[in-house]
Amino acid sequence: MLWKVILLLMLALPTLALDNGLMRTPPMGWMSWGRFRCNTDCRNDPKNCISEALFVDMADRLVEDGWLKLGYKYLIIDDCWSFMSRDNKGRLMPDPIRFPNGIHKLAHYAHDRKLKLGIHANMGKQTCAGYPGTMLDQIETDAQTFADWEVDMLKFDGCYSNVNEQQKGFPLMSKALNATGRPIAYSCSWPMYRGGLPPSVNYSFLGEICNLWRNYDDIEDSWESVMRIVDWFFQNQADLQSVSGPGHWNDPDMLIIGNFGLNMEQSQAQMALWAIMAAPLIMSNDLRTLTGEARSILQNKAVIAINQDPLGIQGRRILQDEGHIEVFWRPLSKSASALVFLSRRTDMPYRYHSTLSLLNYTSSSYTAYDVFKDETVSLPSVNTHFTITINPSGVVMWYVYPDKSFEQTKETGGHPNFQRKYAHASQQRIPGQILFFL
Ligand code: GLA
Repeated sequence: MLWKVILLLMLALPTLALDNGLMRTPPMGWMSWGRFRCNTDCRNDPKNCISEALFVDMADRLVEDGWLKLGYKYLIIDDCWSFMSRDNKGRLMPDPIRFPNGIHKLAHYAHDRKLKLGIHANMGKQTCAGYPGTMLDQIETDAQTFADWEVDMLKFDGCYSNVNEQQKGFPLMSKALNATGRPIAYSCSWPMYRGGLPPSVNYSFLGEICNLWRNYDDIEDSWESVMRIVDWFFQNQADLQSVSGPGHWNDPDMLIIGNFGLNMEQSQAQMALWAIMAAPLIMSNDLRTLTGEARSILQNKAVIAINQDPLGIQGRRILQDEGHIEVFWRPLSKSASALVFLSRRTDMPYRYHSTLSLLNYTSSSYTAYDVFKDETVSLPSVNTHFTITINPSGVVMWYVYPDKSFEQTKETGGHPNFQRKYAHASQQRIPGQILFFL
């Protein structure tokens, strides 16, 4: 019954969120770091260096290749954009050779195309890559500079600062951004520098001052890195799941789909698990050279809709099977839910048998829509047996909806209202399976 109490508490508690009205669903967009890092060698590598030209290219791609229409609207400049020293008024300034027209112009370029511009700064002496940081007495100046440039989002990192500076600096930047009067979404890397877990991290406070936060290590371009992040987030779901919600999100870092480290199965897995986690969908890849396969995964409308579900409830791992299959579940609006079946096997496609009742669904008859295969599976009862084939390091992802609501949808042209009723949990132990609950 504990899960019921916790669930009721979650629904009853007022949402503690940074009150700037931004990011009511997880942000979507593109950021430079994962793919382009701190490449500043514009002379020898002009197409791939951190420069105005790179962000103009990506802005064009976001708009012309359909990304913006799907919700990918943040264009985020990560580290290495600035000049090595501040200007004579103590303000950060962009490298004049690589950003000849300045950040304000770039913001206009983005805004003219209905994109939002994000920028990176760092609480501490210098950024992780060695560029000028923001000390406590520079916070107001920097917040005002970003507002003057009409920036829409700040990623505030925490290299080269100590516990006390972070304790003061991250809340102070939140205040300073608010004080500019410009709505600037605020991403804090604070928890990542404090181990990511309570009691060192006070997530309810963080929810009041930040729109999203990096909890854990940087992603690298490999499946191993994706799995390390997934493991950490789901091993710690008891601490992390409830702290996320509209306006305040956990951030497991960028989508690396379209780079070199993930095959197609693994790319689908990253996309599916990020959707289950209600994670920001911030790509870091080269949109100019993306393969059709990567594009179709990143542009999958059903997965995006699951990620962007307006309830904004982060999902959980509900099962780890002895056959190295794991099942993840996320409740969605309109009495629907998402399930992801992940195979950690390395031998061959695995035929997995189950029923919805074994996954703690109760009552009703459901339809499951396989979001990557674009097929539906009818499950007339929760006891209906199904078999799915999950490829090694791949997923099957279902959008599951009760048939009754489907009928009403057809009649009304819209789903019935969500009834605050989740068809999932009972503390039932399945032989040979380890279950995790709320
Ligand atoms: C840290 C952050 C990364 C990136 C780099 C830039 O490592 O976690 O996401 O911003 O700094 O130096």
